[in-house]
This record gives sequence, C-alpha cells and structure tokens, in this order.
Amino acid sequence: MTKANPQLGKVTFLDAQGDLQAMEVTTPWSRAEVYLHGAHVTQFQRHGEPPLLFLSQCSRFESGAPIRGGIPIIFPWFGKPADKLGQHGFVRNRDWELKEVVSPADGSVILRLILPEANDSADYGVEYVVTIGNALSAELIVTNRTGHKLSFENCLHTYFTVGDVNAVAVTGLKGVEYLDSLENRQRKTESDEAIRFTGEVDRIYINSPLAVEIRDETFRRVIRVEKESSLTTVVWNPWIAKAKAMSDYGDDEYQRMVCVESGNVAVNEVTLSPGEASRLKVKLSSGALS
Ligand code: BG6
Repeated sequence: MTKANPQLGKVTFLDAQGDLQAMEVTTPWSRAEVYLHGAHVTQFQRHGEPPLLFLSQCSRFESGAPIRGGIPIIFPWFGKPADKLGQHGFVRNRDWELKEVVSPADGSVILRLILPEANDSADYGVEYVVTIGNALSAELIVTNRTGHKLSFENCLHTYFTVGDVNAVAVTGLKGVEYLDSLENRQRKTESDEAIRFTGEVDRIYINSPLAVEIRDETFRRVIRVEKESSLTTVVWNPWIAKAKAMSDYGDDEYQRMVCVESGNVAVNEVTLSPGEASRLKVKLSSGALS
C-alpha cells in the first residue's frame, strides 16, 4: 500500500509569457504550468523525468492565438468545417476563469476552470478539471444549456515530448479504422501493431475507446494515455515540410514530439439532450520502458 504523502501540493501565480496569466503547480511528484488562456496545460513533468508535454520554443503567448504545445482544448468543432470560422473551435483562444483550487490530503492539486459565457458559447456550460499529481488527469465537462439536442466535437489535443520521433512506437490501435486526413479523410484500417513515424502522419482513429501507449526507446519511457467517454484518437506529426510552414513551430521540433489526442471527432461527435452533460476524461501517466 502507498502511504499518503504529508507534503501538500502548492499553486502560485507565475510571471507568465506574453501578457498572459498562468499558474505553477508543484506536488510531491511533479510540476505543472496551466495558463488561463485556453485553460491550457503547457507543462507537466514528473521529478527526475523529461517533460511529459511538449511545448514549442516558437509558440505565441498572446490573446487571440492558440499556444503551440501542451494540451489545447479543441471544442466545439475539430479541424475546419466549411460552415465554421477558424480551425479547432474557439475555446483554445479564450481566457478561462479559475473557479476552484483543491488540495487533497494525498498531495495532489485539482484546478477547476470554467469558460466564461459569450455569444458563441451560450449554448454550452463548459468546465475543465485538471488534476496534477503522480499522473496528470484532465476532464472536459460540457452541459447542453439549450432546450434542444446539441451536437459537437471535442478533443484534448495533447503534445507529448519524445527523445527522438524515429525511435517511438504508438501502440493500442491495431485493427482500428481511421480517417486519413492526408487523403481527404479516406477510411483505412490500421494493420500495424505499432505506429512508427517516417513521414507526416495525420489520422483520426474512430471508435477507439481503449488506452494507447507511446513507447519511447530514447528516453526508455512509456507514456500511457487512458481515457473515458472518448471514442476517437488522433495521431499527428507534421514532419519536415509542414513544420517549416508553421510560423509558431520550430523547423526541427517534429523530431521531439508526437500528438496523441483523445476526443470525439467526425462520426464520433457527441449529441446531448437538453440539460445533459458529457465528460471527456484523460489520464496521462508514465513509467520505465521494459
Ligand atoms: C491536428 C490535426 O489535430 O492538429 C492536424 O489533425 C492539424 O490536421 C493539427 O494540422 C494542428 O492544428 P493547429 O490548428 O493547432 O495548427
């Protein structure tokens, strides 16, 4: 049995990048940073381990622009549907409010943030609960505030740090159908036990509720992505040409990250009845690669 650690978690406001506000959270096991802009977790690092989350050296830190790296919250749409303005929804560009900080006796820290109401978000109640401890958990809770059915997409677009993308395998998706975003969302089936990266990858794995692992031979680390109420896993690495084309991303940074995103996208979009809530949850943990 693990003994409760007497040391409590701590939250302090940081002198953050740009004009943005952010918090630093320290716990007996880890350190994290969370920006109010986008309710964006930009860092999580267990003591003695490389950072779990990847954050671009070229990221913008300004209102109106998303942060590149960490965990952008994608809602209420994924990608760029023809009838919507902007890519990946709008909540990653909003300033959220910190509603509550809880410090449970085990030493972890729970932050509860809410999306302030605006004209384009009035249909939804949106809350985000981040738990920082030995692992990092995040839960996006959306309530239908209208008197009719409401459909949307959601995704926790997580950027993970890896030692060398050439020595990384993503496992847990064999036999799963995916939409290949590089080929007009053509439907294909994953035939490989392990996804490896030798070029650009941009895939929406559908009907995939199970955990996924990122096996990193360079860091000798395995990252486990466990999820609840998520039927979609997106796997993305921009590779060389797209990296060069992104102004907020370093030309070589594709070598040190992979995105494994948990959500409900495309055929897996969520539909809520009036008053109903959805809870998309991920738990990100790490350990030694055996
Ligand atoms: C991924 C998409 O989720 O996000 C990619 O599958 C996209 O197609 C990537 O390029 C990054 O999007 P953005 O808007 O943050 O540059």
